Amino acid sequence: MTNRRLLNVLNGQTENIPPIWLMRQAGRFLPEYRATRADAGSFLDLCYNPELATEVTMQPIRRFGFDASILFSDILVVPDALGRSVRFVQGEGPQLDPITPQEIADLDPSKVLTELSPVYEAVQRIRATLPDETTFLGFCGAPWTVATYMIAGHGTPDQAPARLFARREPEAFKQLIDVLVDASILYLIKQLQCGADAVQIFDSWAGVLDDKLFLTASQDPIARIVKGVRAQVPDAKIIGFPKGAGQRLLGFVEATGVNAIGLDWTVPLDWARDTLQGKVALQGNLDPTLLITGGSDLDESIDRIMEAWSAGPFIFNLGHGITPQGDINLVHRLVERVRSYSNR
Ligand code: CP3
Repeated sequence: MTNRRLLNVLNGQTENIPPIWLMRQAGRFLPEYRATRADAGSFLDLCYNPELATEVTMQPIRRFGFDASILFSDILVVPDALGRSVRFVQGEGPQLDPITPQEIADLDPSKVLTELSPVYEAVQRIRATLPDETTFLGFCGAPWTVATYMIAGHGTPDQAPARLFARREPEAFKQLIDVLVDASILYLIKQLQCGADAVQIFDSWAGVLDDKLFLTASQDPIARIVKGVRAQVPDAKIIGFPKGAGQRLLGFVEATGVNAIGLDWTVPLDWARDTLQGKVALQGNLDPTLLITGGSDLDESIDRIMEAWSAGPFIFNLGHGITPQGDINLVHRLVERVRSYSNR
């Protein structure tokens, strides 16, 4: 047992009151984030400024006292480091030049070590600034999710451009996934060495893949990342989040060996408890829209999750990131309700 409650859960223990944090907890729903963001200039300037990145990482910890803090950065700093010059256009999301098979052949994964030193400096600063009991999470995007943006050049509703590319250019696609596996291993190891207690791998677009591509583009690459990270950091604690994986979650957990599995709000609570919780800690899965609407719907949804999952290894979280419309008062209410649950 350590005094970092979330880390204890990743070690397979059950905490009396589950640790809680929220994906995208540092972000636009907080006025202090919007103020720092305005001072920084662009979003990437904020990610690459260790002092300001530390400040926005700390903001939700100060306000809500969450059990975990996640590095303030973005999954797209990896393609940026690989030379794909990412731009964040206000109101439009990320933009990149769509990558060609020829350009894929020239990618060098080791650039994440040389190009992302401001991120590693932020990791060191954040660990030194956080309260001792706060678990500190590093992260990366999974190869498939990062590849979708590199291929299309922007976000799309169902990642059709990347799915098409995978079929039309299978060799180049495989090469791109392989480069991203290698880059992610180096990137996560470095974050762990600089002070992250654990890391999360975000596969936000896993749910658009058919059976075969789910294995080759999501599950197998993530399994290789877990293995590659643990080859250097043997007891590395890793959270997988293959959003939308549904019934494939069991196979994913078994094949990858993650310590915790992030679950979106579509996953049935009893099924997850009976099928997954004996093998892995659960993380999730409140629908983020409930932090906009509140009311008894919010309270009852929190209680249902607590009832189903809090008797085993469990980390309370949302099923995906909190949105800019998320209500600060409802976040306070959520934290309070989770922490007082066993007393009711
Ligand atoms: O608090 C945290 O969770 C830490 C920081 C974090 C951000 N992005 C900050 C961010 C993390 C962990 C991410 C992950 C990320 N980024 C994912 C995976 C998780 C998910 O939400 O699915 C993805 C797919 C991205 C790519 C990305 N970044 C998109 C599509 C966008 C635009 C859409 C949007 O929500 O704005 C971003 C921008 C982004 N990343 C913002 C923040 C706070 C907003 C930028 C701003 O301030 O203008």
